Amino acid sequence: MGVIDISNPYCLTKVKASLPGPEALRLNCSVARRRKGAVSMTSQIPVEQVHKSQQRLTGDSFIRPHLRKLSPYQPILPFEVLSTRLGRKPEDIIKLDANENPYGPPPEVLEALGTLKFPYVYPDPESRQLRAALAIDSGLESDYILVGCGADELIDLIMRCVLDPGNKIVDCPPTFTMYEFDAAVNGALVLKVPRNPDFSLNVDLIKDTVDKEKPKCIFLTSPNNPDGSVISDEVLLKILELPILVVLDEAYIEFSSIESKMQWVKKYDNLIVLRTFSKRAGLAGLRVGYGAFPLSIIEYLWRAKQPYNVSVAAEIAACAALLNPSYLEVMSSLAHGKASSTSSALNAPQSKSKRMVKEKFGTKPEWMTKRCLWGR
Ligand SMILES: Cc1ncc(COP(=O)(O)O)c(C=O)c1O
Repeated sequence: MGVIDISNPYCLTKVKASLPGPEALRLNCSVARRRKGAVSMTSQIPVEQVHKSQQRLTGDSFIRPHLRKLSPYQPILPFEVLSTRLGRKPEDIIKLDANENPYGPPPEVLEALGTLKFPYVYPDPESRQLRAALAIDSGLESDYILVGCGADELIDLIMRCVLDPGNKIVDCPPTFTMYEFDAAVNGALVLKVPRNPDFSLNVDLIKDTVDKEKPKCIFLTSPNNPDGSVISDEVLLKILELPILVVLDEAYIEFSSIESKMQWVKKYDNLIVLRTFSKRAGLAGLRVGYGAFPLSIIEYLWRAKQPYNVSVAAEIAACAALLNPSYLEVMSSLAHGKASSTSSALNAPQSKSKRMVKEKFGTKPEWMTKRCLWGR
């Protein structure tokens, strides 16, 4: 790794010495081109031999070996594709395969997007407005919060910052499959510690696995996808005692009666908590997730993240959603069967499919909280 100073002849000699034949040849040619403005061969390798070795190169030979074996992630089918396949209008389809929130975002989001002022300027790399709003929403200072292009991006970013190829993670299936997928992309090994028949975590087996295999991190989902089970404080505390980074994914926290653990990152240096606007505010299509991190970790995520990872539209939409706490409360009370079916926040401009969801499932979206979180 590192940088090669192409203008430094000493540096080049050292690099060439460490490169195999054809690579050294290619470097010679390109340097010669730079220096003289013309191609001049400095290699003694016969031309036929060069052609032969070049012919052998296929595109996949450039791909990292572990990625050549990667099975592709099975993504969901978008409305347009489903619509064509089923011969029905998107508005007539109730889509449950990716746990999107079919009620959609509160009306403030559509208004804010309609008046977007500066789409031609790159977004704020620090998502300052949104982080400030999230600090108020969560009660955790914005220094501990980082925003991403969905929680998915943050899962990958954490792995890129924490894992070397060959490192291990603990996964507790059945659960969200992106942990396994991102681990494979990052060349990490996945140690599976299956959940108990009632979907609770097998804490003893997790402890044994940590002792024996020395994994670097564990991904826990509470409420879990696909079953909706939650992790008790007692169990979480036991796992936090282990020498392992705990990534707690709270994508569905708003649909449960438990409190978010975002504040805990101030106390536990090995805890990261992930949240998302996809479920709580119906913004899956705009891609906004966020996470709470210990200060000793967040610093490195700032360094490694893509500078413009959250679009202008995504930031504005998420801020607008936070401006309607009653919508967010209704979403959460729906899960507890508290909201009345005439709740004004839900009766905001709604599509036929949203009305159909309400007719079919009522205002208590059991499909989000109980035993039927389908899809991803
Ligand atoms: C447990 C869990 N975490 C994270 C995500 C992805 O969230 P986002 O849309 O913010 O990437 C999902 C999506 O289904 C999920 O089920």
